[in-house]
Amino acid sequence: MKPKLLITRRLPEEVISRARQTYDLTENENDTIWDQATLASNAQDHDAILATVTDRLDHKTIAQLPTSIRIIASFSVGTDHIDVKAAQERNILVTNTPDVLTDATAEIALLLMLGAARGAAAGMFAIRENTWANWAPTGMLGMSLAGKRLGILGMGRIGQAVAYRARSFGMTIHYHNRHKIAGQENSQFHVTLDSLLAHSDILSINCASTPQTRGLINARTLALLPKGAIVVNTARGDIVDDDALISALGQGHLGAIGLDVFNNEPRIDPRYRKLPNAFLLPHLGSATSETRNAMGFRALDNLDQFFAGQSPCDIVK
Ligand code: DGY
Repeated sequence: MKPKLLITRRLPEEVISRARQTYDLTENENDTIWDQATLASNAQDHDAILATVTDRLDHKTIAQLPTSIRIIASFSVGTDHIDVKAAQERNILVTNTPDVLTDATAEIALLLMLGAARGAAAGMFAIRENTWANWAPTGMLGMSLAGKRLGILGMGRIGQAVAYRARSFGMTIHYHNRHKIAGQENSQFHVTLDSLLAHSDILSINCASTPQTRGLINARTLALLPKGAIVVNTARGDIVDDDALISALGQGHLGAIGLDVFNNEPRIDPRYRKLPNAFLLPHLGSATSETRNAMGFRALDNLDQFFAGQSPCDIVK
């Protein structure tokens, strides 16, 4: 008998084809986001859940899952949508999909830096709205990335991939992380976030969302950035205090921002939409065909290993 797998969102066809070979699938035909009660009820009689970042698997939802569920394989690297401790207490294993989305997310971080630094949002608006009067020597001036200091908050896989790419743009790399990273001798490690911020012309947020990092970029910390600095975020919206970010931009302390992630996605703070110097994307970090396939295959690898009696490669502790 094949294990029964609940897949909470529509996944790429290649992923589903492979999953069908091993699992008895229940799919989400309409690709609507299930509320927590629906998710728990759909999980009845299943052995495993393949979940995504849109599923809020908090303590209450985990408590409602049937005892048949033994593993939640998340189609994501971030696991802030899952109460991992609550899952462990119920003997449910949680896995994620690291590595496979590193390059795609780092590419989006560079896109955000370029888009914010060069005023791409205002430029595109001028084209689309037909308000571009003419080329002007002093019109639409942005900031070059070359020669600038990039401060990376969180030097994990994605942070390092951002650093690798940014060096080729002529940027110098600074970073703050829980510990110094071997192999990053060409980058300047900062023991404190405050020190990193004081040395960042552009800040790239690449840390996980945890109780320690939530709200880390706030009015106090933003004030430590040099005037005209740029903030880009490809990690999670809740690391940033929206009021503080919008106010720092509005008051001219920040030159521009680039965001791919937001608090309360997709119902983002509407004030962001009105900011001409905000380059905004709808959580596209891992959104390439190659990457979404690889994420699905990685989630299936974890499930296959689990049901073969092995230890999955990406257990979240
Ligand atoms: C993740 O995997 O955590 C991303 O945010 C979704 O692409």
